[in-house]
Amino acid sequence: MTTTGPSSTPTEADTIGRVLVVGAGAMGSQIAMVCALAGRTVHLVDTDPQTLTRAGAELRARMDSRVARGRLGAQERDAAFAHLHLGTDLDAAAADVDLVIEAVVEKIDVKTELFRRLDRVTPDHAILASNSSSFVPSRLAAATTRPDRVCNLHFFNPALVMACVEVVPGEATSPTTTATAVAFTRALGKEPVVLDREVDGFLANRILNAVRDEAVRLYEGGYASLESIDLACRTALGHPQGPFELQDLTGLDIAWFTKTARYAETGDPADLPSASLDARVGAGHLGRKTGRGWYRYDDDGTKTPAPDPVTGA
Ligand SMILES: NC(=O)c1ccc[n+]([C@@H]2O[C@H](COP(=O)([O-])OP(=O)(O)OC[C@H]3O[C@@H](n4cnc5c(N)ncnc54)[C@H](O)[C@@H]3O)[C@@H](O)[C@H]2O)c1
Repeated sequence: MTTTGPSSTPTEADTIGRVLVVGAGAMGSQIAMVCALAGRTVHLVDTDPQTLTRAGAELRARMDSRVARGRLGAQERDAAFAHLHLGTDLDAAAADVDLVIEAVVEKIDVKTELFRRLDRVTPDHAILASNSSSFVPSRLAAATTRPDRVCNLHFFNPALVMACVEVVPGEATSPTTTATAVAFTRALGKEPVVLDREVDGFLANRILNAVRDEAVRLYEGGYASLESIDLACRTALGHPQGPFELQDLTGLDIAWFTKTARYAETGDPADLPSASLDARVGAGHLGRKTGRGWYRYDDDGTKTPAPDPVTGA
């Protein structure tokens, strides 16, 4: 992907020395590590202490594995962990940050409430960014007194690996905020892709969703199995993973929330979650994180298509 948008200077990136990442789930934990590896002081905060413990252990294992494979120096690893602070006290962690990256559950009321609080407890100069996959920054900016310093920084899963970060300015985002976000993204070693105008879902996921919707139509219409559809996307279109395999990685619940939120806005039945997605999410089959989604993942590493929990088909 090529980089577009405002030019950046190292000075702009350097203004972000201290980062707060809120939400230590699949995205927030790795985003925090990316920032720590780039030498930033990072606070990673979650309301759930167990999630923090799990995130810390997973990051430690990932970084140790990089060191063992010669892809990261032991000193760099240790320096990054020295920069990374995990905790549950949001207000204390927010007190002296330059940038917040919010990565909590994809629910607009939870995010809005959090942005209202962040606006109160962060320094005035701090940029408040959301990693939301769908909500445009203007919706969150409205909960703050600093809409010029609100934008989306949309990382992709897994954030430690994926290069693209969509930088999404809202209606009121200042050019300085966008330029700083671009420079910071580059300083992380990522590829900023800047939107000219906000649109929900942004770029990559809107394109992916069109592919995914067609994949589900073909599957529910009985034209082909999950495996055949994934195989076609991999071998004919050059996608590294098929749409069902990818959704198992990113989480079926994320897709369900995104669709439901979109339907709430448009009222268009075409935006509702498909029956097969609805059935799986209703049964708690959320993808790899629960061991079962479109596919079932067994302990021995095998992956087999999982029947629909409602129809059994
Ligand atoms: N999963 C993906 O592939 C992906 C990719 C890009 C962006 N995103 C976006 O990133 C965000 C997080 O997604 P995820 O997959 O990491 O979710 P997740 O469910 O794995 O993690 C969310 C975390 O937020 C915590 N949390 C909830 N409310 C909180 C609060 N008020 N304060 C602090 N912590 C709170 C939860 O305890 C949980 O640990 C969502 O907005 C999602 O749309 C997800």
